[in-house]
Amino acid sequence: MKGAGAPPLPGAGLNRPGHMLASKRWFRSPTGRPIGSRLNWTSRAGGLPSPAARAFAAYQGTIKMLSYWMAYLQYQLGAQPDASGKLDAYSSWSAQLLGSVHWWMLLEATHILTLAVFAGSLLFLDLRLLGLVFSNTPFSRVNRSLLPITVGGFVVIIATGLLLFFSKPFDYYHNIAFRLKVVFLILAGINVFFFQLRVKANEAAWDKSPRAPAAERRLALLSLLVWVAVIATGRCMAYARYSCPNPSAVIVTLDDCNGRDATLAKIGKEVSL
Ligand code: HEM
Repeated sequence: MKGAGAPPLPGAGLNRPGHMLASKRWFRSPTGRPIGSRLNWTSRAGGLPSPAARAFAAYQGTIKMLSYWMAYLQYQLGAQPDASGKLDAYSSWSAQLLGSVHWWMLLEATHILTLAVFAGSLLFLDLRLLGLVFSNTPFSRVNRSLLPITVGGFVVIIATGLLLFFSKPFDYYHNIAFRLKVVFLILAGINVFFFQLRVKANEAAWDKSPRAPAAERRLALLSLLVWVAVIATGRCMAYARYSCPNPSAVIVTLDDCNGRDATLAKIGKEVSL
């Protein structure tokens, strides 16, 4: 029974004493109750977890598990034992890539130079849709010329991005700029998918017009905004202020810095950090 007005069971979900958010003043409503207490985190019958509580627990479990995987990649994979018998985190493959004189710099340079080509080709495609450049050339011709550059650039940028990520996966994982960048990349992918569907459906009708119909123009504008967001968050990743151990409450929560500390404490038993 979802009893209207019935108080939530004590000690459940976000009301649990010691929950990361329970002590945060900004997380409470003006009456002092945690904001999460308005949600029905437990079912009334026998205190069994509700679907919302189970989904939240599964989400937290996944976040924690990913943190361990990233720490394994960064500190343990390929690491050699030191004099104390523990693994030396500085000898892991990640640490070697990050510390390499040429490889990291080469990857970063390729990532950024390819970005110029990739984003440049996308920019011209979107501006053509908006009717701001090449308006006398059919859209299909501009698309055909630019598509190989866009696709080739995308493959290189993803490959170099993944390798750069491998240089310190645990640190990037606990970095809000990286998390936002992944979200914007997914949004950009969804936008491209819908755009291609629309274009295939009715391109012939407006191919030669100086600018695309309103719906396609909106998608072009959205594409520009989302790619700018990917680039901006990519740039922000380099700054320590967006990652743990920044003590700001917002960063601690969004980057799950408590989870990061717990992971470090656990793997610190096997690895010299
Ligand atoms: C089209 C997609 C992408 C764009 C537009 C993009 C854009 C950027 C930008 C602008 C930078 C900043 C370079 C700098 O100024 O230092 C950057 C760095 C980086 N990107 Fe990407 N990126 C893309 C895909 C990816 C992917 C898929 C990954 C990995 C999952 C990735 C991982 C990184 C890493 C690790 C850095 C280095 C950050 C640092 O300096 O510490 N990128 N990217």
